[in-house]
Formats: sequence, C-alpha cells, structure tokens
Amino acid sequence: MSLLELDRVGKSFGPNTAVEEFSLAVTKGEFISFLGPSGCGKTTTLQMIAGFLDPSHGTIRLEGKDLVAMPPAKRGLGIVFQSYALFPHMTAAENVAFGLEMRKVPRDERDERVRKALALVGLAGYEGRHPRRMSGGQQQRVALARALVIRPSVLLLDEPLSNLDARLREDMQIELRQIQRNLGTTTILVTHDQIEAMSLSDRIVVMSKGKIEQIGTPQQVYEQPASAFVAQFLGKTNEFAAEVERTAGLARLVAGSWSAPAPAGATGTVTISVRPERISFGSSGLAGRITSRIFQGNHWLFQCDTECGPAIVIRQNDGQPQPDQGETVHLIWQDSDMSLRASVAA
Ligand SMILES: Nc1ncnc2c1ncn2[C@@H]1O[C@H](COP(=O)(O)OP(=O)(O)OP(=O)(O)O)[C@@H](O)[C@H]1O
Ligand SMILES: [Mg+2]
Repeated sequence: MSLLELDRVGKSFGPNTAVEEFSLAVTKGEFISFLGPSGCGKTTTLQMIAGFLDPSHGTIRLEGKDLVAMPPAKRGLGIVFQSYALFPHMTAAENVAFGLEMRKVPRDERDERVRKALALVGLAGYEGRHPRRMSGGQQQRVALARALVIRPSVLLLDEPLSNLDARLREDMQIELRQIQRNLGTTTILVTHDQIEAMSLSDRIVVMSKGKIEQIGTPQQVYEQPASAFVAQFLGKTNEFAAEVERTAGLARLVAGSWSAPAPAGATGTVTISVRPERISFGSSGLAGRITSRIFQGNHWLFQCDTECGPAIVIRQNDGQPQPDQGETVHLIWQDSDMSLRASVAA
C-alpha cells in the first residue's frame, strides 16, 4: 500500500487555478521531487499535504486515512519551509527541541534526541549557538534537524537549499541524500533545479502551470521525456521534425536527406528529440556546418546549422582534435538515443 496518496487534488485561488488534477502515490522510504518553474504550483501542493492549505478538489490520504480533516500538527509530518525560519531567540538545541516539547517527550529522551539530530546534520558542538551566529548553511541544517527529530512519517522540504552557494549546496545535497537513505524517511522535495532533482530523487514529478507533465525516475524523465516541456526543462536537447514513410513494408523516419529506421507504431509527422551529448561527428549522417565552437573545460560545445534546423552538440574533451567553426560535419547518433513524440497539429 502507498504511504501517501493524492487523488485528483486541485486548488484554486478565486478564479485562478494553481494546481489541477494532481494524482500521485508515494511508497514508504521513497524520495520524490516536485520539479518545475516558478509559479507552477509546487509550494501549493506541498502546503496541501502539510495541511496549511485546504484542497479545492480531491483527496489526500496518509496510511489510508483521509488527511483533509486532520489539523497540521496531528499529521506527524516534518516540514522545512522555503524560508527556513528558525526561532532567533532560541539556541540551535532549543530550536530542535521545540517539536519534542510540543509532543511532551520527557526531558532525558528529548536531550538525547536533540543531540543525535544535530550530530546527524554535522552540527555536534553547536547546541548553544543562536541562529544569528551561524552561517546560512548551518541554519539550514538546524532547520533540517528540527524537522527530522520528530521522526516524521513524511519529510516535506520546500527549496531547503535555495539560499546556499553552489559549492555548499552540492555538499548539502550529498548529506541530505545520505541522511534520507540512512533513516529511510519518506521525503518530498520541492525544487526548480533539475540537477538537484535528478541527483536526489527516486522519482521526479515534473510540473508546469499547475499540472503534472510526467512522473518517472530521473533516467525516464531525462531519456524519455513525455512532452517538449519536459525535454527542455530537464536539460538541453535537440528537436527535429520527421515524417514516417513506408516503402516496401519498411517504415523509415525521413527529414530532408537524413533517414533512419522508424520504431514500431510510429506514423505521420513526429518530433525527434536527441540530447547533445549523444551526438557525435561521423562521415555520413545529418549534414550541417559548425557555426560556433566553445571550449568549456571538460567538454566542447558546438552549435551547428543543419538541414533540419539548428543543433547543439556536446563532446567530451578527450584530447583529440575537434572540428572547427565553419567546417562541414555530419551528425550521427544511435537509434536508441532518439526519443519520439507524435507532433501536435498546429
Ligand atoms: N495565497 C495565494 N493566493 C492567490 N494566489 C496564490 C496564492 N498562493 C499561490 N498563488 C498562485 O498559485 C500559483 C502557484 O504558486 P506556488 O507558490 O505553488 O508556486 P511554486 O511552484 O511554489 O513557485 P516558486 O518556485 O516561485 O516557489 C502561482 O500562480 C501563485 O501566484
Ligand atoms: Mg514555491
């Protein structure tokens, strides 16, 4: 049975729909990310799970029990908000202890759990510090310890790493993943950072304009995007239009003078999507000319004009000579590196 179930959940603010038909079943121990651009409804969905917003439609169940009538404090959820407000007049230990005091946990047990929670996030020895004397990253970790200490059935994190610089953010991502794996805490993370979602999650819910575009493992949403939005939001990609043509019983994808075997079931006009790192230069393939060549350390980034429109190609810097700007090239890729979608009629 799923631990947490959202069934066709929706939320409107007056005439504006923030979330629509949101259905998701979360398994115990899973790490899920809600990924999408600003304003797509991530926080609204999380707040409905947390109980700070009532859904306009649909049901939310935790361990089979309907959550909608249950007050936030009774849901047993650990929450780290988008702004991770700690109580400024309380020390780190007092901040972490707060939820346990509310739950009337006896003093000895409380002290022990607070000590362990702070140690878990790498803050042993910081018990007596006040938030104003801690760095942003340390404060963020106190907020995480405060959410974890109550042993939540589900941990809800709303952009918990957004205020950190790139380096600290990466360190915290690794830490967060280790903590989550060690404790087995079911976690939902809200983020607009696709790398963060991919590096942390078992499954990603990609959202746009209040709706779910796709739910899948990081590999599935990256390799088999269900829509143009998902393909583009999960990183750079190339898209070409092609026709499926049948000759002598064989179906082929054709775009200008380029062609490849068509997968079973493909018909009509399709959109081919190929990631730039899956393309290499060969002696025959999609003909084009390099319009720019940029060195980026561990790889080269090429922009090309092809028969089918502009394309980008990323090649690892393996020390071999690379084609130059202005050169004519042929772009090649494995059939298995293409993902196909039926083109939506304009
Ligand atoms: N209390 C509110 N009243 C009216 N509209 C709201 C309210 N809260 C959110 N909205 C609207 O609902 C939509 C979704 O907002 P939400 O905060 O869920 O987005 P988000 O995906 O978390 O964005 P961000 O990445 O910027 O935090 C937005 O269009 C927003 O303006
Ligand atoms: Mg938000």
